[in-house]
Amino acid sequence: MATRLGKMKKNKLKYSFLNEDPNCEQSVLPSTARTVVCIAGSGYRVLPMLSANHIKTLYIVDQSQTQLDHVRSVLRLLKEPSYESFIRTVNPTSSQSLLYKGSHERNYKMRSRLLRLFFGSQFQGGVDLTATKQWPLFVKIYAYLLKKSKSDHSENVNYPDYIKMTFQRLMKTAYSKNFFWQQIIKGRAETVEAFAALISERTWTDAKANLPNIEIRYVNEDINEFLASKKNEIDFISYSNVLNYLGPVQKLAMIASVPRALTNQGQILFRSYINEIQLITDQLKENTEKTKLLENEMTGSYRIKLYEKI
Ligand SMILES: C[S@@+](CC[C@H](N)C(=O)[O-])C[C@H]1O[C@@H](n2cnc3c(N)ncnc32)[C@H](O)[C@@H]1O
Repeated sequence: MATRLGKMKKNKLKYSFLNEDPNCEQSVLPSTARTVVCIAGSGYRVLPMLSANHIKTLYIVDQSQTQLDHVRSVLRLLKEPSYESFIRTVNPTSSQSLLYKGSHERNYKMRSRLLRLFFGSQFQGGVDLTATKQWPLFVKIYAYLLKKSKSDHSENVNYPDYIKMTFQRLMKTAYSKNFFWQQIIKGRAETVEAFAALISERTWTDAKANLPNIEIRYVNEDINEFLASKKNEIDFISYSNVLNYLGPVQKLAMIASVPRALTNQGQILFRSYINEIQLITDQLKENTEKTKLLENEMTGSYRIKLYEKI
């Protein structure tokens, strides 16, 4: 019984759409990159890599086979005859869309209903919720829940400030173009424009055109073990927010395997929720110029840095 439940839980799709801004990968992917590694997640963050015609090999890595299978279904959408039919098929403004099948996305739907009860009539797009009278109580509750959910209490994070900062950063992108803001309010996209701001016609069309010329390899493995098997082979790594999943020992494994796998000047893009990104190694240095390009990433909730092999 326990193992069957465990297997069911392990096989459940967690991410069916983005909770990260793929424009980040698009803006920092080196034009010389040939071999790329990308954490699968929902699979949509892979599309910017596929839209780059200089990529020859793409490793799609995830410890969850369910996520990898989901990526295959996302890439099958590139068979749609046109971007318009792709949009019709995913139908992003419908709560029944396949975009919202994952447990993560279904949680958002539930959360938006709860928040609507909490904030009342003010809970609508474009409203600065940080200026509402309910905000202080909301932050108190949310900060308490976040603190409880975070295992490593080592970092002295000021959760109320972090929550306010992330919401203010989120509001930097207009509501009509901001899928992540709409997802908080509605649990789904409210405008096709917001979806297109993440998966543009250009990205989708280029990915469709390049797909036959890129060797895709699906890897169901711990990413650090996979990278440990590579030596000077990888030009770019989209590491998602896997840092948030790593314990101290795994972090050391990552610090050892990443520089070894990267080619000279190879780059890796890190995201982290709440925790600062600090890497103690003399083989990687932050490319602050490129990190600067990422300041306006649309979710507002990630710390994000690009490191380069030296
Ligand atoms: C936060 S999710 C990214 C999903 C994101 N929504 C996206 O837009 O694609 C991180 C993904 O990393 C995978 N993951 C976490 N730790 C991993 C590890 N050590 N090795 C490989 N995959 C890992 C999880 O299974 C999950 O699919």
